Amino acid sequence: MARIGKFTTTSGKTMETPALFPVVNPKINTVPPRELYDTFGFKCLITNSYIIKKTPELAEKAKQVGLHELLDFPGIIMTDSGTFQSHMYGEVELTNEEIIEFQKSIGTDIGTVLDIFTEPYWTKEKTAESIELTLERTKQACDMKGDMMINGVAQGSVYPDLRESCALRMASLDIDVHPIGGVVPLMEQYRYSELVDIIMSSKKGLNPSRPVHLFGAGHPMLLAFAALMGCDFFDSASYAKFARDDRMMFVDGTFRLQDMESLDCDCPACRGRTVSDLRRMNNKDRTKVLAQHNLYQIVRELNLVKRYIREGRLWELAEIRCRAHPALLDGLRRLREHQALLERYDPISRDGAMFYTGPETRTRPVFKRYLDRIGDRYVPTTDKAVIFPETSRKPYSRGYAEEFAKARKAGYTPIVASSFGPVPAELDELYPLAQSLFPEIPDTETEETAERLTYQFLSFKGFKQVISPEQIPEDGIEEVDCDLIRAKAVSRYQFGIEATEALFRGEIQLVTSKKTGKIRNVISDGEHVLSMRAGDGLYTLRMEGAKRIVAATPAPFMRVSVMDDAIPFVSQGKNVFAQFVTDCDPEIRPMEEVIVTDCRDNPIATGRAFLVPFEIRQMKKGMAVKVRSGSQDEE
Ligand code: GUN
Ligand code: ZN
Repeated sequence: MARIGKFTTTSGKTMETPALFPVVNPKINTVPPRELYDTFGFKCLITNSYIIKKTPELAEKAKQVGLHELLDFPGIIMTDSGTFQSHMYGEVELTNEEIIEFQKSIGTDIGTVLDIFTEPYWTKEKTAESIELTLERTKQACDMKGDMMINGVAQGSVYPDLRESCALRMASLDIDVHPIGGVVPLMEQYRYSELVDIIMSSKKGLNPSRPVHLFGAGHPMLLAFAALMGCDFFDSASYAKFARDDRMMFVDGTFRLQDMESLDCDCPACRGRTVSDLRRMNNKDRTKVLAQHNLYQIVRELNLVKRYIREGRLWELAEIRCRAHPALLDGLRRLREHQALLERYDPISRDGAMFYTGPETRTRPVFKRYLDRIGDRYVPTTDKAVIFPETSRKPYSRGYAEEFAKARKAGYTPIVASSFGPVPAELDELYPLAQSLFPEIPDTETEETAERLTYQFLSFKGFKQVISPEQIPEDGIEEVDCDLIRAKAVSRYQFGIEATEALFRGEIQLVTSKKTGKIRNVISDGEHVLSMRAGDGLYTLRMEGAKRIVAATPAPFMRVSVMDDAIPFVSQGKNVFAQFVTDCDPEIRPMEEVIVTDCRDNPIATGRAFLVPFEIRQMKKGMAVKVRSGSQDEE
C-alpha cells in the first residue's frame, strides 16, 4: 500500500511523499525553520495556529506579513487547530469557525479543522457522537476554505468500524488531506496492534487520491511500517521534545543520554563528539545538538523508506524495523489479520528477489496469493506425486533436473515442499517462487508449515499416491511434454482456468529460447497469444490472446473499459489514465495483465494495471493501465 507521491498545494508548491512535517513551536524555535529547510531539506513543516492566535505579538505579525515570513520558511506550511491542546489540557476557548478563519488570514497552505480528539478510553457511543460533530465542523471548513487546503481529521478511537465509516464520510467531503487522528496516546503506550487496526480500517474508507497523514507519528522506528500501510504524511514534535529531556532517537528506539555508554552516531550533529562531550554542554546547546541529531535520524530513515518503496522492498525494511521493540513486532503480527486487503495492493510481480527476514515474512500477502491461486487454479496432470525437500538451488527444475525427469518418466508430478507451500514443478519459475531467498537453515515454524500446506494441497487436489524421491521407480517410460504442462499451468495461475481453455485451443506450438530452453511464445492455432517473460516467469498477453479471452469470458473479467473519447489514443498504444475508465474488473491486481475494452466490450489494447480498482475508481489523475499494444499498432 506504500506509495511515492507528488503533493501539490493550491499555490503550486510541490513536494514528494512520504514526507515528514517537523513541528515548529513558534514560541520556542529549537531548530529555526530556515535551518529545517536549508540544512535538513524539509520542504514542509507544521505549526500550531492556536498558539499563534493566543499570542498577541505572533498573531499580529502573522496577519501582517503572513505565516511564511513570520517563520521564515519558504516551503509548505501546515497548521494545526488547537485540538491537540484540548486533548492535553482540556477545553480550548475557540470555535471551529474562528480558527479556520484565522488560519486562512495568515496564509496557511494546509489548515486543520477543530476536530474532536477521540481518546482510546472513550465508549463507542461517545466516540460516535463526537465524530458527528467533527464531520459537521469539517463540512463548515470546506465551505469556508477558499484557497486554503483542509485537513479533515478521521477519528474513531479504537473502534475499527467507526474508523472505517468516519473515513468513508471524510472521503466524500471536499477536503484535501486525510489525517488519521487520535492515535498519539496509543503510540505513547506502545499499543501498535491497535494502531495497525486503526490505520487499516481507515485506509478502507479514505480517498486514495489524497495523502494520508498519521497525526503525531514521526519516530524513525515507525516510518517504514506506517508507510507500508499507506501513510504518506508524518509529523514530529518529539525531535525537539525528546531533545529537551536529553533523549536521542534512533531507528531502533529512543535512548536517554544518561544511560548511553557510548555514542556511535556519525550524523553531522554528533560527528566528533562523545557522550561525555554532550553531557558537559550547557542545556541550550545540548538541546539543539540532540534536536539536530533526531532530525538527521528522521531524514535518513525517510530517505531509506523511499528508496525501499522504489525498489519494491519495503516489506523487508518494515519487518526489520519492527524488531526494534516487541510491541512493534506485535503490530507486524497483527497485520496478518489484514492480509486479504493487503493482497489487493500487492503487485503480481516485482523486480528483484524477495528476502525472508523471519517467520512473519510468511504472512506477507504474496504468500496468501500463491496459496489461493494454486488452490483455485492448479489442475494436476497426474494423481501421483513425489515430494521433494526445499532446496536453495532455484528454479527447482534446475536444482533437481535429473530427479524431476525421472519422476515425470515414472508418471509422477514432482512437488517441492517449499517455504511458500507446495510448488509443483511446472510452476517453479514464476514470481515469487524462483525470485526469493530463504535461509538454508529453516526455522521449525516454516518447516512445519511447508509440510502441512503440502499435504493439505495433495489431498485437496486428489493425489492418490505420494512418495519420496528415493522411492521413484527406475524404469519409467512415460513421455511427458513438460513445456506444455508448464505453459498451461502458468496460464491457469495467471488468468484462470476458463481463459486458459480459450488461449490453448487447437494446435499448440511453443517457441523456446535457444540459449536457455525456456518458453518464449505460445502459438495456438497459428496465433501468437502469449509471451513469457524470462525475469518473472509470467506471461504478457498478446492482442490475439486478449480477443479470445473476451470472447470466452463474461465482462468484466480482466477488463478495464474506457470512454469513447479515449479509444483513439489507447488503440494507438497510449496509456490509460484513471479518469477515462468507466468500469473495471474488481479482482485486478497491480502489475497484472489486463484487457482494455470499449463500452461495447470490444478489446482495444492489452497492458498492465498500475493501480488497484479502488484507486482507479477514485483517482482523478494517474496511469491506470500501462498499455503495451493497441489494436491499431503494427506489431
Ligand atoms: N495532533 C495529533 N493528533 C491529532 C488529532 O487527532 N487532531 C489534531 N487536530 N491534531 C492532532
Ligand atoms: Zn547523531
